[in-house]
Amino acid sequence: MTSLRHILVLLECLLVTTASIAGRATAVAARATDLSKIYGQGETQVVALDRVSVDFRQAEFTAIMGPSGSGKSTLMHCVAGLDTFSSGSVRIGETELGSLKDKQLTRLRRDKIGFIFQAFNLLPTLTALENITLPMDIAGRKADKQWLDSVIAMVGLADRLGHRPSQLSGGQQQRVAVARALASKPDIIFGDEPTGNLDSRSGAEVLGFLRNSVRELGQTVVMVTHDPVAAAYADRVVFLADGRIVDEVHGPTAESVLDRMKQFDAKGRTS
Ligand SMILES: Nc1ncnc2c1ncn2[C@@H]1O[C@H](COP(=O)(O)OP(=O)(O)OP(=O)(O)O)[C@@H](O)[C@H]1O
Ligand SMILES: [Mg+2]
Repeated sequence: MTSLRHILVLLECLLVTTASIAGRATAVAARATDLSKIYGQGETQVVALDRVSVDFRQAEFTAIMGPSGSGKSTLMHCVAGLDTFSSGSVRIGETELGSLKDKQLTRLRRDKIGFIFQAFNLLPTLTALENITLPMDIAGRKADKQWLDSVIAMVGLADRLGHRPSQLSGGQQQRVAVARALASKPDIIFGDEPTGNLDSRSGAEVLGFLRNSVRELGQTVVMVTHDPVAAAYADRVVFLADGRIVDEVHGPTAESVLDRMKQFDAKGRTS
């Protein structure tokens, strides 16, 4: 009898462990459900997002692609808590954004989300290092020195930390922005065309760092891009058209992404 009970307890442990491993593997860093965003009213109304549902899983690198005006930035801004939405819901981890007051939303953005924009958005009067630690300084949090050192080493900025943005190349400035996003170990990093202003070599470096942060550090990254080569660094690509998700590619290559884009173009011309 006792041994039967032991076996049952063991089985239960096994089930719980398996469930938690499975849970971890598929844990959702951010989720949009039936998300709509409508600008304006009446004649001038624009449906920027039309009931979009999408998951961004932990430790996954997702690229968002689609024609200009398809809603990529709007989707990113709504999921990142930078913009309000008209209906539907957004969750970061277990937190529903719709339930938060402004102050709570600001704190969530500060503590849980990292941003990398096309224009590097560095403060010109601060050094590279001060720019990297700025969000944590504002939050009154102390940087984890070891982590900070490894992030700085990864983006290759150790010998540029005392430079101001004007003394750095575009690629170096964007690497500061990448380090700034990674430094506070956010739950999720959002990038809106983070390599849009970089030459292909600097762009490849920045994309390599983002991919490494996903592979080696378990970081979650969501990146908007127009570039099939950039998208090929991601684990999956989500395609938007007219505010809707129209396709998804896993394990993308530049060729497979380009192929899909051509199909959409062809459809667009015939419809
Ligand atoms: N503040 C705004 N007021 C009205 N319409 C807006 C506003 N912001 C965006 N839109 C519209 O919403 C739609 C989606 O815009 P969004 O910026 O998300 O596109 P995008 O896919 O990021 O395009 P791009 O590739 O050019 O950056 C577009 O039709 C745009 O004109
Ligand atoms: Mg955009």
